[in-house]
Amino acid sequence: MPEGRYAVLMDVDTGHDDAFAVLLAARHVDLLGITTVSGNAPLPDTTANTLKVLELAGLSHVPVAAGMDRPLVAPPRHAPAIHGRSGLDGPELPAPRAAPDPRHGVLFMIETVRAHPGCWIVATGPLTNVAVALRQAPDLKTRLAGISLMGGSTAGGNSTAAAEFNIYFDPEAAAVVFESGVPIRMVGLNLTRQALVLDPEVARIRAVGSRLCTVAAELLDFYNRTAREVFGRPGGLLHDPCAVAWMIDPTLVEFQPMHVAVELTGARTRGMTVCDYRFERGTPDRLRGHAGIEAGQAPNAEVGMRLDRDRFFDLLIATLASYR
Ligand code: RIB
Ligand code: CA
Repeated sequence: MPEGRYAVLMDVDTGHDDAFAVLLAARHVDLLGITTVSGNAPLPDTTANTLKVLELAGLSHVPVAAGMDRPLVAPPRHAPAIHGRSGLDGPELPAPRAAPDPRHGVLFMIETVRAHPGCWIVATGPLTNVAVALRQAPDLKTRLAGISLMGGSTAGGNSTAAAEFNIYFDPEAAAVVFESGVPIRMVGLNLTRQALVLDPEVARIRAVGSRLCTVAAELLDFYNRTAREVFGRPGGLLHDPCAVAWMIDPTLVEFQPMHVAVELTGARTRGMTVCDYRFERGTPDRLRGHAGIEAGQAPNAEVGMRLDRDRFFDLLIATLASYR
């Protein structure tokens, strides 16, 4: 592996944007494997979808292991309105030749991180697998270089007014991860709303003319259609690739340190990521001792605030074009 490339285990709930995150990662990081989790669709579907995307890209050598099939506490709330019943509706994808790894995804995650100290987890779905792995194997906290996760928001949700889907699906798991002490890079909706994919980008992808890019464009045709129907937005949001893009080019995303806590009990705010960035620089100590101001806690995450949209899409489209 060329020097300086990140070693990455992905944890996904494939879904349309997860698929693009996998295709981006496979070309630019040392992709150690993929674990799947219940989220956009039930676990059998997110697992099958992940295997199909790898088959399409000629990446069926990448191991895939199915993880947790439900959240820690809440009942699963899938997203068929956005991703379709299968979780990856739109074009027909090739039946995968590869079968999932026989190990449970959590065991696969634990063994992979232990075998590759200094690796990262890129989580683009609910954090159930990651939380269970951290609980079952606390030594992962010192073996992981970090967790790059798509989830949460500094500015409003999508599943509810306050909560983003991946966190809302399993808030208890998200709390375990944010409280773990593992270095976290969070790309939330406040950032991924900048990754709006519009007709010109779809046209650029379709114009490549390869089998993969033709399928990718058809996936986006479906994804953009549901975004218009459900949210009245002109296109879909490519949330998950943002959790990978900064690893490839750190100038694509500007991060800001802040403390992030997951609300678990609020009647209207369960699953909200409460992001404290009241202080622009330094630490929450600046807030101490002022009447009427709670000082807050030291940062536990770097949160993405600004995306270079044009260069993000240039990277993504060039990467998609690199597949045959
Ligand atoms: O809120 C967006 C996130 O939820 C993305 O990861 C999407 O794939 C869904 O999992
Ligand atoms: Ca996802």
